[in-house]
Amino acid sequence: MSELISDIKKLKKEKNAVILAHCYQNAEIDEVADYVGDSLYLSRMAAETDADIIVFAGVYFMAQTAKILNPDKKVLLPRLESGCLMADMINLEQVREFKAKYPDIPVVCYINSTAEVKTECDICCTSSNAVKIVKSLNTPKVLFLPDNYLGKWVEEQLGTTEVITYPGYCPTHLRIKQEDIIEAKKKYPEAEVLAHPECHREVVKLADYTGSTTGIMKHAIESDKKQFIIATEKGVVDRLKRDYPEKEFILIKDNIICPNMKWHTLEDIYNALANEQHEITVARETAQKALLCINRMLEVSA
Ligand code: 13P
Ligand code: SF4
Repeated sequence: MSELISDIKKLKKEKNAVILAHCYQNAEIDEVADYVGDSLYLSRMAAETDADIIVFAGVYFMAQTAKILNPDKKVLLPRLESGCLMADMINLEQVREFKAKYPDIPVVCYINSTAEVKTECDICCTSSNAVKIVKSLNTPKVLFLPDNYLGKWVEEQLGTTEVITYPGYCPTHLRIKQEDIIEAKKKYPEAEVLAHPECHREVVKLADYTGSTTGIMKHAIESDKKQFIIATEKGVVDRLKRDYPEKEFILIKDNIICPNMKWHTLEDIYNALANEQHEITVARETAQKALLCINRMLEVSA
């Protein structure tokens, strides 16, 4: 293993490459990653890097976003199977139909969407800046896609804007049920419950804190509490356990795993760098239009 890690580091240097890893990745990938974080942080790092090659240990839409932000760089996704089930719930035709049903309302799209879908939207958001982005539009109504749950959570947080949502969802986060939280609270009465806004509304209502991947991690680190029930993907719990052994982190259920995030292994990262595979490309016109949507988000949340 350590030989593989040093080979990856050597290749990275030789090829002036950077490795970005989402917090849901297998934790071993952190050993070689330059940046580990949530979608917003990784988009920012992708926008700022001066590396020639970006290896994205994340899902397809994340690598696609990095490519849109860096049309002249080589962006590699180690395993092409790494799609996001939520992003695949809406295509170009469906976003056009959704807009036609509610004309003249600004469209916010969660970054968990394809480049084609982004071309039809006004501004992007991630789970960490969704409230800020919707607020920045300063309109009584917005369309929000693809995640119904994040959209409705934003509506509740703001209390000023009607958020008309598309019926997309994350199958991993929806595995967490209200009863799971009730049971966990009974078992660990002192623990704080931290949840991702992609969860069911009933789950979020029972949580002490709701936020993005990084928001959850930051809250757990800064809290005076010692025990936490985590209602999001297992990768977050693995990292918290590794980095803060003095605190206790309980994954709400064993199966809260995004299978697509877990494809990449260190061997795949090595092969990606050695063979410069699998290169992500985005048609020029699509990339230019999608970039407007992504850049508006980066400007508002700077
Ligand atoms: P973050 O915005 O918290 O990184 O979440 C991305 C994601 O895919 C959650 O399921
Ligand atoms: Fe997509 Fe859900 Fe996986 Fe996040 S956890 S990448 S939303 S399928």
